[in-house]
Amino acid sequence: MFQSQSSKGMLALAAMGLITGSTASLETCESSTPFSCSSSSAEPTCCFNSPGGALLLTQFWDTDPSTGPKDSWTIHGLWPDNCDGTYEASCDSKRAYSNITAILQDQNLGDLVDYMDEYWVDMNGDNEDFWSHEWNKHGTCINTIEPSCYSDYKAQEEVGDYFQKTVELFKTLDTYKALDAAGITPSTSKTYSLSEIQEALTDMHGASVYLGCSSGELNEAWYFYNVKGNVVDGTYKAVETLTDSGCPKTGIKYLPK
Ligand SMILES: *[C@@H]1O[C@H](CO)[C@@H](O)[C@H](O)[C@H]1NC(C)=O
Repeated sequence: MFQSQSSKGMLALAAMGLITGSTASLETCESSTPFSCSSSSAEPTCCFNSPGGALLLTQFWDTDPSTGPKDSWTIHGLWPDNCDGTYEASCDSKRAYSNITAILQDQNLGDLVDYMDEYWVDMNGDNEDFWSHEWNKHGTCINTIEPSCYSDYKAQEEVGDYFQKTVELFKTLDTYKALDAAGITPSTSKTYSLSEIQEALTDMHGASVYLGCSSGELNEAWYFYNVKGNVVDGTYKAVETLTDSGCPKTGIKYLPK
């Protein structure tokens, strides 16, 4: 679990030695800490995401086979990209796990697992494998949730934080609803232009979004952020996509699930 930003009073009491709680927490970050990607000279710290300073919440729209609810996109992952759009992967083999469900349940995050089973689903039906892949490949590269960034660290605590944060961000980015509000609805016959899809999602996010297509069918959306402070309770700011869209300009299909 992570400590909320509004726990200054608790911290003051703790500093005075009045409580000796055993709750692990991430380092509290100064308000003067810069946004990630805003300074190329700043070193990685527990309060500065680097080199993966661009945090991407990525989503899928899978129709063949279809995954998740018919009226919702699904989670792909939370990725720390470098500020130039390249990325590091699989950063710590010692923290690569294949038992994500057990780790989350052990942290009393059973409700999170239930949510993930609905909205963070593998195309081939192997959610456990998909979640492991996302954590091992991307999660281990987020420097602000390395074990050394926690006080009273408990094993795999950062894994719980990673999955909780990803779901929390996903819930703020309802791609289906944003498209629907702009009249962009799944159809076997209608097609859409890249600019109208881009505009609807930019309106929601506050910055341009990466859109991915496969054979001219819309199937991915990536939302980019810079973060001030650590990835769990830092401040997120929407930033423009670092990756060019992989969709044609016109005639894009958005198929029903
Ligand atoms: C998950 O696996 C790791 C090692 O691979 C192990 O250390 C840990 O105890 C396991 N967690 C649970 C809750 O089973």
